[in-house]
Amino acid sequence: MRITYVNGEFLPETEAKISIFDRGFLFADGIYEVSTVINGKIIENTPHLKRLERSARELKLPLPISLDEIEDIQHQLVKKNNLTEGAIYLQVTRGPADRDFAFPKQVTPSLIMFTQEKEIINAVNATNGIEVISIPDLRWDRCDIKTIQLLYASIAKQTAIDAGVQDTWMVADGFVTEGTSNNAYIVTDDDVIITRQIGSEILSGITRETILRLAKEQGLKIEERPFTLEEAYHAKEAFVTSATTFVWPVKNIDGHQIGGGQPGPLARRLRELYIEMAMASEA
Ligand code: PDD
Repeated sequence: MRITYVNGEFLPETEAKISIFDRGFLFADGIYEVSTVINGKIIENTPHLKRLERSARELKLPLPISLDEIEDIQHQLVKKNNLTEGAIYLQVTRGPADRDFAFPKQVTPSLIMFTQEKEIINAVNATNGIEVISIPDLRWDRCDIKTIQLLYASIAKQTAIDAGVQDTWMVADGFVTEGTSNNAYIVTDDDVIITRQIGSEILSGITRETILRLAKEQGLKIEERPFTLEEAYHAKEAFVTSATTFVWPVKNIDGHQIGGGQPGPLARRLRELYIEMAMASEA
């Protein structure tokens, strides 16, 4: 059985419990991070933990233990579960308090972690590419904070599945913001990569940062700016990035075939480069 971590204890998942008064449960008052595990190593974990710290600061949410201590527990959890490939999820909430909208005066934050086995390197969607549909972006204005307020993302994903596709791209004021749980990119005919600039409308993806660096190292041009669906429909390629997908090609947007409906070579190359970097990492 899977071993999880709850507030200082390693417990089998059936014994891992949180109070019904936890503000994560009552108000979605919490933050999270997801890091990927390959060959038992946690990929790009330091920037994920730094982003956790930033999310906490933005919400005036005290972290219960230091980032070093969190990292140590993550490593223990990966070991205890013999996880070779998958993800490690961690969540911090403002903890239990009698129900009141304002923050409690005394805060005892909750910290939980669990692992998930997942096919990352040989994911079917990486080979085949995915199809997406656009939906209005109805999330709040602080999508730069990685909060556990994920109801709209869940609705979005279900909308995609009900439409027979894998994911959605969200659109605000006529421009694509990001995917349901990933950053979105298009490629022009002359191989310029376009992705929305960092701001409060999107999550500043850790994978995004690295993919843009790897692309620059390949001499590729990058434009960080908003793009429209119309531009996306006519793109040479499209793709998404996140910790658990790395790079997945997008081959269809709202029924418009991208790159002849085949995964694009640039997306494939960036995925290979990312995997090389991940395999070589020491974490
Ligand atoms: N999602 N945008 C959103 C809205 C996300 O939820 C994610 C990550 C990303 C990509 O960020 P990163 O490259 O740091 O994973 C962008 C994670 C994987 C999740 O919620 O499962």
